[in-house]
Amino acid sequence: MPVTHLIMAILLAGGAFVLGASVAFADGSGDPAAVKNEGGKYYDKESNPTFKVQSDGTVDWSTYSGFRRYHSDCHVCHGPDGEGSSYAPALSNSLKTMNYPDFANVVVNGRKNVNTAQESVMPAFGTNPNVMCYLDDLFVYLRARANGAGSARQAAKARREA
Ligand code: HEC
Repeated sequence: MPVTHLIMAILLAGGAFVLGASVAFADGSGDPAAVKNEGGKYYDKESNPTFKVQSDGTVDWSTYSGFRRYHSDCHVCHGPDGEGSSYAPALSNSLKTMNYPDFANVVVNGRKNVNTAQESVMPAFGTNPNVMCYLDDLFVYLRARANGAGSARQAAKARREA
């Protein structure tokens, strides 16, 4: 390849790398960047609830609240930090493709998969106030997990500063 083409190729490859690095994370609900704050809760540009990490690594209150609720009602099956278990899927992964209405639908109505060798049951939480009152917080926490935020360390920091 002529030298100029080689240089162009290197420049293009370098450019693609820089672009790749600056692309914002996205998940099933789209770009999670917070654009609005209403009474301490953050929303993205589609008005879906979202998380916000301060520059010092502290997460918002919803993420912290969701972290607590998750670890009281969901982690027995879905594993600590939304990382999944042999019984239930990793929600830190699910939320990469799942949007808010689909998430709410599964949590409210539950889901049963009897086609697998082992019957797999997600209970319905629609009548459980400890879950329903915090549905947004659970979503926000798991959305943070899907985007590499909301670790136990970050949540502990939010608790100390609350
Ligand atoms: C008793 C165990 C159990 C508990 C407790 C539980 N889940 Fe599940 N959940 C499951 C199983 C099993 C599945 C997979 C169901 C299937 O295969 O269709 C699932 C699926 C899901 C899904 C769909 C994931 C996907 O990739 O499609 C979401 C969202 C979810 N659970 C959220 C929650 C939340 C939030 C809580 C806590 C409020 C919770 N679950 C508590 C067992 C549980």
